[in-house]
Amino acid sequence: MSSPTERSLVLLKPDAVRRGLLGEILGRFERKGLVVEALELRTMDATLADQHYADHVEKAFYPPLKDFMTSGPLVALVLAGDEVIEVVRAMIGSTDGRKAAAGTIRGDFALSNRENLVHASDSPESAARELALWFPKL
Ligand code: CMP
Repeated sequence: MSSPTERSLVLLKPDAVRRGLLGEILGRFERKGLVVEALELRTMDATLADQHYADHVEKAFYPPLKDFMTSGPLVALVLAGDEVIEVVRAMIGSTDGRKAAAGTIRGDFALSNRENLVHASDSPESAARELALWFPKL
């Protein structure tokens, strides 16, 4: 019996837009065989930032993270595929771009633990919450 295809909410952050890396990053996901089910250029406002990062709002790094995430347009997308949540997390690499493995998106293109190009859901529970927040009609 095959399991239903999984979905992940992925954000190509404002640094990815500013640096012209959208094609590079999207191309990696496409070449992996993941399916783009939704894609939208959006600007995160303060309310959406607080909702999206509800687990982090009390942390010291949150105010500058919020400033960064609301600083310009980002691309919100829904990716689908077999075990997509785990697959995308492996492809983007660890949070800190300085420590992320070469060959991952952050390892190849990021040099910061804040401006790290991509956000991706980290569990089925966070994917369900984030998909409802960003794409309520899907
Ligand atoms: P993301 O996957 O979007 O989830 C939370 C974000 O907070 C993370 O990527 C980084 O952009 C940011 N972040 C996490 N830890 C730190 C930190 N120690 N300092 C600055 N930013 C951080």
